[in-house]
Amino acid sequence: MADYKIKVRRFQPESGEGPYWEEFNVDLEPSLSVLDSLLQVKDREDGSLAVRCSCRAAICGSCGMKINGQSGLGCKTQIGEAQELADKKASAVGGDTKDNVIVIEPMGNMPVVKDLITDMESTHWTKIRRVTPWLLPHGEAPEREYIVNPESMLDITQSMACIQCGACVSSCLSMEADPDFIGPAALAKAYRFVGDPRDAEAKERLHDLAEDPHGIYDCTHCFSCIDACPKDVAPMDQIMRLRRKAGEEGIEDPNSGHAHEIAFVKVIEKKGTLDEAMLVQESYAPGIKGKLKPSKRGLKETIKSLPTILRPLMKRKVKLRQAIPGTHHKLPGDAMNDVKAIYEHAEEHNEEFNLYIKGDEGELAEIEADEAREDTAAPTASEEASNG
Ligand code: FES
Repeated sequence: MADYKIKVRRFQPESGEGPYWEEFNVDLEPSLSVLDSLLQVKDREDGSLAVRCSCRAAICGSCGMKINGQSGLGCKTQIGEAQELADKKASAVGGDTKDNVIVIEPMGNMPVVKDLITDMESTHWTKIRRVTPWLLPHGEAPEREYIVNPESMLDITQSMACIQCGACVSSCLSMEADPDFIGPAALAKAYRFVGDPRDAEAKERLHDLAEDPHGIYDCTHCFSCIDACPKDVAPMDQIMRLRRKAGEEGIEDPNSGHAHEIAFVKVIEKKGTLDEAMLVQESYAPGIKGKLKPSKRGLKETIKSLPTILRPLMKRKVKLRQAIPGTHHKLPGDAMNDVKAIYEHAEEHNEEFNLYIKGDEGELAEIEADEAREDTAAPTASEEASNG
């Protein structure tokens, strides 16, 4: 047994008071969970402490919370690990590395109902319903189950692993800036159906999610949802898969999200670093190198972007020269060759990561070829019977 000190953010609405912090001492094995520490407090010190839980085994998704600022599951985080993280954080800012408190808060981006209990309905579940989270199949439903090739389901296994705990929503920085963002959990759920071979509305779903100003192009690649997810769903990766599919369908979103993404890749390939001035031009008038001859839409969007361009200029964060497309500095020496090598490597390695698919297409082909060889080499049951 070891002694730990936890600091819990409390909010008791019936008191009429605002949120406050309260510290408790708990006595637990380091391998027990943060949720266990809260249940001990509830049992021994203060029965009014509100925390949601059920399975205590990282299955039901009820116990989402922030531990030392990191969103996750209380029942999946060992108290010993939480203490180590608290110590590490304290030492990073030059503080004491002994007896640092473990800070426990309700999830972010959601209203707090009481103590560690958040209102999942108003944010998480409303957004999940927004993406039509059920299968929209072709034609009449079959009399018995749908038969699908197991391989065709592999791509969506990762998004199917979601337990709807809301940890990704809690940590989402885009949602903090834009509460209307559909968000990582709902978009991962959307991919579960877009990638399902039985769904007949994938294209309509992609149009809907790409054309919504708070849809797939609202994600800013911060990776917070990937860090927070206790089930390795990697919601941001599912959003990138949706973007890839929308791009393959040639969907032109009104926010130029897809064009912006292509421009980003092109500008860095050309310049080695991000030439922001060129990024605006390439996003709205792609293909015009250095010549300011944008399309009607390009002109409109560039004018719309002027306040964003002018703000850093006025604050002197950017020099006038940097705001002119094509005048960005060049990389020193032969650094550009390194950038080219990265692009060539990325093009040669079409890597796909999910729970069940790891490695590149070449490796997959090798595995399939090995399996085929084994199948032809191994005698079938009837061959064995006739041989025997
Ligand atoms: Fe079920 Fe934590 S209590 S996931």
